Amino acid sequence: MSFYENKVVWITGASSGIGEALTRELVQRGARVIISSRREEELKRVQQSSGQPEKLRTLVLDLEKAETLELAASNALAAFGQIDIMIHNGGISQRSKVIDTLPEVQRKVMEVDYFSYIELTRLLLPHFQQRKTGHFVVISSVMGKIGTPMRSAYAAAKHALHGFFDCLRAEVWGFNCKVTIITPGYIRTNVSRNAVTATGEKLNNLGKNIGNGYPPDKTASQILRAVEKGKYEKYVGKPFSQERMAILLMRFVPSIAIGIFKKAMPE
Ligand SMILES: NC(=O)c1ccc[n+]([C@@H]2O[C@H](COP(=O)([O-])OP(=O)(O)OC[C@H]3O[C@@H](n4cnc5c(N)ncnc54)[C@H](OP(=O)(O)O)[C@@H]3O)[C@@H](O)[C@H]2O)c1
Repeated sequence: MSFYENKVVWITGASSGIGEALTRELVQRGARVIISSRREEELKRVQQSSGQPEKLRTLVLDLEKAETLELAASNALAAFGQIDIMIHNGGISQRSKVIDTLPEVQRKVMEVDYFSYIELTRLLLPHFQQRKTGHFVVISSVMGKIGTPMRSAYAAAKHALHGFFDCLRAEVWGFNCKVTIITPGYIRTNVSRNAVTATGEKLNNLGKNIGNGYPPDKTASQILRAVEKGKYEKYVGKPFSQERMAILLMRFVPSIAIGIFKKAMPE
């Protein structure tokens, strides 16, 4: 029997990219999945194309609207009567220099990529505590471990996730609640097209690195393997990539890593 059989998983950002691939893979492995994002028609498409629409519930949700998250969490809990795994995945990236970036853009990225994650976590914790089981899966990024040009808001939000969820892990292990942080490298999705610019418009550019990125379906398998193994933190993506090397360099020889990042060509 699959580890995921009959588990209930809530995934944000399930209307495309990594979240969509995770949804398909989870349904194939016997899970029931609540899929969230802003675009209802895209969620319906993911549901219908999953092959087992009865195993999915759609829940429209805007992570930027903090005041709506409480109702969303209670609707998610009601969908199948329980949640076993919460996958915080929905998010936006950013491409702009610090000097040009409007404060509201910095705040928007933080709201979507960080504050929504910690609020949904707070809302689900009593449920996990009561059932003495639960697993938070946090889709961070290589940018949660390093800093390169043009990514200040995004890297700040992703770094913040590591601080918060490392602390949470240390608090909740006593009631069998787990935390897995995933740091993907370049994955071939719409993330760069959807990235915000200095003034908050969509970048609308795929870029070479994302265009040549690792396939989302393979990424989803890597993520689900890490969750099943109860990993604390896991890089996913191309096995021998510059991104993976960047994490290792930053950890073990930061002066070399920072020297390289200074010369990195922003994309
Ligand atoms: N692709 C990569 O190379 C890469 C690398 C490292 C980390 N990641 C992370 O992986 C996660 C998934 O991204 P992806 O690569 O799959 O990109 P994507 O294809 O652009 O998907 C992003 C998802 O987030 C949802 N979303 C965006 N803003 C939202 C909001 N305000 N409220 C609710 N949902 C929102 C989008 O749905 P709607 O538009 O329907 O709301 C979409 O489902 C993100 O956290 C990203 O930072 C990606």
